[in-house]
Formats: sequence, C-alpha cells, structure tokens
Amino acid sequence: MSPVTKETILFVDDEESILDIARTYFQSRGYKVLTAGNGKEAVEVIWNNRIDCCFTDINMPEMDGMELAEYVRKHDNTVPVVVMTGYPSLDNTIQTLKNGVVDFLIKPINLRQMELSVERVLRERRLFIENIMLSKEVEGKARIEKLNRELQEKNDELNVVNRIMTDFAALRESADVLKQLVDLTIAYVHADIGCFYLVNESSHQVVPIAYATAEGESPLLDNSGDDPSDLFPLSGDPKIKELIFEAVKDDQPLLVSTGNGACLPEQVTSFMLTPLKIRSKLLGVLSSFICNGKRRFGERDLYYLSFMANKAASAMESLALYENIYNNLLATLYAFVKAIEARDPYTKQHSNRVTRISVALAKAMDCTAEEQDILNVAGLLHDIGKIGIRDEILLKPGRLSKDEFSIIQQHPVIGADIMDNLGLWHREKMIVRYHHERFDGTGYPDRLKGQDIPLLARILSVADVYDAIASDRAYRKRMDEARILEIMYGGAGTQFDPDIIGIFRKLYESGELAKITAETE
Ligand SMILES: [Fe+2]
Repeated sequence: MSPVTKETILFVDDEESILDIARTYFQSRGYKVLTAGNGKEAVEVIWNNRIDCCFTDINMPEMDGMELAEYVRKHDNTVPVVVMTGYPSLDNTIQTLKNGVVDFLIKPINLRQMELSVERVLRERRLFIENIMLSKEVEGKARIEKLNRELQEKNDELNVVNRIMTDFAALRESADVLKQLVDLTIAYVHADIGCFYLVNESSHQVVPIAYATAEGESPLLDNSGDDPSDLFPLSGDPKIKELIFEAVKDDQPLLVSTGNGACLPEQVTSFMLTPLKIRSKLLGVLSSFICNGKRRFGERDLYYLSFMANKAASAMESLALYENIYNNLLATLYAFVKAIEARDPYTKQHSNRVTRISVALAKAMDCTAEEQDILNVAGLLHDIGKIGIRDEILLKPGRLSKDEFSIIQQHPVIGADIMDNLGLWHREKMIVRYHHERFDGTGYPDRLKGQDIPLLARILSVADVYDAIASDRAYRKRMDEARILEIMYGGAGTQFDPDIIGIFRKLYESGELAKITAETE
C-alpha cells in the first residue's frame, strides 16, 4: 500500500549516489523528496518549494552545509536542518549548532538511522509549529477579548450618548434644560453633586443656578436654609471659582482630582467641568463633584460631561428658536382673533375672558400646568374659524336661518384646520374643534358625547357659553343673573359636564368669575 504523501525533505549532497539512495528510500516511505548537489542549488530549491526539513552534507563546492544551515534558519526557523558528515569535529559541531542544526548523522549513512532522524525532527517541528499556532491563538483570543471589551465599552458609551440625546429631545422648554442637565450628571457620570453655574466673565461672577445631588446626604450640603447659596456652599469657594475661570479661559473641559497636585476644597476628591456655549457665547459651566469618595472621574466621564453640555446647548438653541417661532405664530393668530372680534364690538375681549375663565376652572379642577397652558392657547384661538364666515351672517342681529346656522357651525372645523395646517398644537386643535360639542351628544361638529369630548374642550365650552350670555351682544343685552344661572346650572348633564358645572358654581359664588369679567372689560 502506497502511503499518503507526507512532508517534503530536501537532501543536499555533492555525492549523487547518496542522493539517489535517499530519494528512492524516502519516496517509498511516502515523503516528497527534493535534492540539490550543493548549498547554492539548495537555496534555489528552497526558494521555489516549501520544505519541511533539510538533510545536508557539510563539505560541498560553491556553498557548504554550514552556510546553507544559516540560510535556512534565516529563511524559516521552523525548518530543521540535519547535518550528514563523514568527519565530525568539535569545531564543526559547535558551528553547526550555532546555525541551528538539530541533528548529526555520521556517514556512511544508515538508512534506518536516517529515517528515525527524519521522523524525530519532523515530529518536533510539528510540535513546534503547533506551539506557535497555539500561542498565536492565545494571543488572538486575548486580542479578540480586548476588542470585545472595547466594543462593549463603545456600545455602553453609545447607549449613554443616545439616552442623553433622547432626554434632551423630550424637553419642551429651555428652562427645563439646565435642570435636566444637572440631573444627568448624577445619572451618567455618577456625580455626588452636579451644578450649573452661570458665568459672567466681565464682572468675574459665578452663580450656581441649578444643581442636583445623588441620593443620600452629601457632606457639602447644608439644609438649614432655603437660600440656594446656603444649600450649596461651594458657590463661594475661591478654589472652585478659580478652576471655573481657568476652564473658561482655555475654553476646554477640565478634570482635577486629589492626589495629582490639584487644589480642591477639603471635601472634594474629584471635580470636572465644561463650558457651555450658545452660538459661541459663554452661558456658564456644567460641573460635577465627587465628595469624600474613593472614586475619581475619568476621561470618559469628562467626555460625557462635554457631550451633555453640547447637547444641552443645541437643545436650548433649538427650543429658543421654536419658542420664538411659536410665540410669533401665536401672536399672529391672535391678531386674527382680534380682527374677528373687532368686526363685532360686542365680542371684544370675548376670547380673552373665555381663556381666563377656562384656566380658572382648570386650576380649580387640579389640571396640570401643561393643561392650563393648552387652555391658554386654545382659549385665545377657539373662534379663529370665524375668520371664514361672512359679516352678514356673523354679525346678523336676530335669529339665523337654518342655512346660516349651518355655516356658523363650520367655525370649529375651520379653526381646527387652520391649526392643523400649521402642524402645531395638536391638543389645542382638538379643543378648538370640540368646543361646541354638548355633553348629551347633540352638539357640533361631531356630536361627541360625555367623556368622549376632551376634558379641556368641556371646560372651554362652559366658559364660552357663560361669557356669551353674561355679556352684551349685537342682538341682545346681557342676560339677567337669574337667567344666566338657570342656563348654566340647568345645562348640567345636557349641555355641560355636571362636574365642571359644580366647579363653575363654586367660582361663581366666590365672586371669582365676576372678578375675571371686570378685569377683562
Ligand atoms: Fe365658538
């Protein structure tokens, strides 16, 4: 049975007969055999072939075995070289060992001895290579682990960055940004205290305007007073002030910890800060403190801090822009409302009064500040849809015909459409649309019933009707008090939400409604 081709052996000898014997013998053993007559030829063979071991004579013309051994070692130090020599001397032996020769065979060659040598050196080579592979694998594994760790860290970092961005995107008012910012220093850089200082470079002043503390007592806090400067004694610390102005001057984030020669207040072990600029104008600095802890802030914390400050700056910029656009738009729309009211002197200030009464009702019903804000806008704009209704219908004294009334009935939808086109005020828009719905489901435009009508629209409807009947109109005088109350109280459960009428009654009886009306005349 012919054995499977094993490794490649190169035999180098200037005696052709030795090469012939070796070739015949080792080929029959399944090895691939290459031969060369001297060192120079051998180098050429090695250039053109991959070999697994080399058996060489020492004394040869052109290039001897020792030079060849040195060449092989430099070329591929995993290839073992075995020297075959007839005259082994101590000098020869030492020199060949220096050149990395792994074995000696004494001529005349005993083929069996040679085969054992081939097997041994190839086995050792395999082990050697396996070891190299193994250590490379270990090295590779370590590298992969390091990469994984780095990847994980990057991933964590991205998550934090992403959360910071989402946190800021959720804010609706620039006033909230600074508070959010200091809260984030607690959440993401695990500060004991986060503080935002307003910085005035020209007057060299530093004022802490927002701060947050981690759970638990902070040694820096003194809760004895209500004044924020009492609560936050670091505001007056000259060392902190100095560091703040250093960061501002360099326009760079700054990180200092005890132990690296930093000059910090006694209780502070690590402190970092970053300037916050809006349109390249300095607003202040965001800072974080670790107090009496073993932990110190690191470069990554500083990176997060700067990132937060940058995001806060852009959030404040876009909110300012948005608030500006929003306020301008509201002013423009309100100018329309004024124009509508101006067409009918009797409805002068109607939207204003409706807004104030609605907000008073909402407040008495414990509606949130946001809901009251919504009513502020919706109240002012609730009749803006009347802009599309002709004067002869809008201002007509006396009863309206059925057709005329159906035109009037379009104004909530027209108003909601105007707001819809602007893409703003979704909740306000719904109130405008539904302010003529009735609790019993007989109102317009959608005949919504009961709780299906948004709460704020139900509130606005009470305020709207009250103001309409309690003020003079083109076609009639203000109703008398008894009649007004009969309509309002009597409408509980039919026209109005009975709970809101209950609140309305309280406000009416306390004189608050009369006060609002008098103030808005
Ligand atoms: Fe209306």
